[in-house]
Amino acid sequence: MTKRIAVLPGDGIGPEIVAEAVKVLEALRDFGFNFETEQAAIGGAGYDAAGDPLPEASLKLAKHADAVLLGAVGGPHYDKLPRDLRPERGLLRIRKELNLFANLRPALLYPELAAASSLKPEVVAGLDIMIVRELTGDIYFGQPRGIETRPGLNGQRERVGFNTMLYSESEVRRVAHVAFGIAMKRRGQLCSVEKANVLECSELWKEIVIEVSKEYPDVALSHMYVDNAAMQLVRAPKQFDVIVTGNIFGDILSDEASMLTGSIGMLPSASLDESNKGMYEPIHGSAPDIAGQGIANPLATILSVVMMMRYTLNETVLADRIDTAVQKVLAQGYRTGDIYTEGTNRVGTAAMGDAVVAALRG
Ligand code: IPM
Ligand code: MG
Repeated sequence: MTKRIAVLPGDGIGPEIVAEAVKVLEALRDFGFNFETEQAAIGGAGYDAAGDPLPEASLKLAKHADAVLLGAVGGPHYDKLPRDLRPERGLLRIRKELNLFANLRPALLYPELAAASSLKPEVVAGLDIMIVRELTGDIYFGQPRGIETRPGLNGQRERVGFNTMLYSESEVRRVAHVAFGIAMKRRGQLCSVEKANVLECSELWKEIVIEVSKEYPDVALSHMYVDNAAMQLVRAPKQFDVIVTGNIFGDILSDEASMLTGSIGMLPSASLDESNKGMYEPIHGSAPDIAGQGIANPLATILSVVMMMRYTLNETVLADRIDTAVQKVLAQGYRTGDIYTEGTNRVGTAAMGDAVVAALRG
């Protein structure tokens, strides 16, 4: 059967890195992978093309596809737009519209990149963490939200900004099930991260996670406050197997975890709905500062294709093939600037993509 993959390159380095991932997909034809892609605009590109960061046509394409591959969104020239028209809003809306509530962000250290990590090699060697971030709730979407004029500190009216951290029991329950399921297939340890010492929302989160844990007696559940988790991630990251957390904490912790692995340019993600349909994107942003220079690292996007094969398209053998190819190019010494260390071979975006394709074929 022909798989339909919606390709949403987005902004900044998005189009460059997505092009390399599509190259890798094309190379999979030789292994019998049958697919067609269709491209559409999202983010700033959506705004430029249709006045909307998530044009109707792009959403429709994504909804009807078997899987979605996304680059990145955002750029400084869109920052002055009204909030609803900003690139980030397009990303948040597509996650919500497709009901992609479970965001899987693995932080895996490739041994060859240990020297690129800002932590000591012995602290990160063998690192393999999976962060399961809830993606369609929390302070990102909670109502009420806004900026209003109200009496301030001295009684005079001034502007206040506010958002609402909010989770329903069912929202926590469904993402908890995903996280426990993943922990079962890994080392059987799940750490739920919240701030239950201060926030009611976190108190409920913790209660529901404990309730769900009763169905997974083989998983060892622990709890950690988010401030401590942020500290433990740089102190002793290998204590973690699977982390489950809310949207905002997961956003922050996954950026932190990415640096343990040497570069945010290495980390892929999967965003899944109830039936494992998903959108796949690197966790890094659109990096406007290096856009158009051909130096961005395409590996996070290529590894996102690996996750797409694994989680949505059930092509485990192909997933392993691409994964092995990436390991091979790292072993061969190919490095983009973000993971470059002395004595390795510095290459650009396209050359890195070509090297992966060559390794796939070779
Ligand atoms: C991410 C990004 C997004 C988020 C932004 C671009 C809206 O930081 O995917 O982690 O906050 O979720
Ligand atoms: Mg983020």
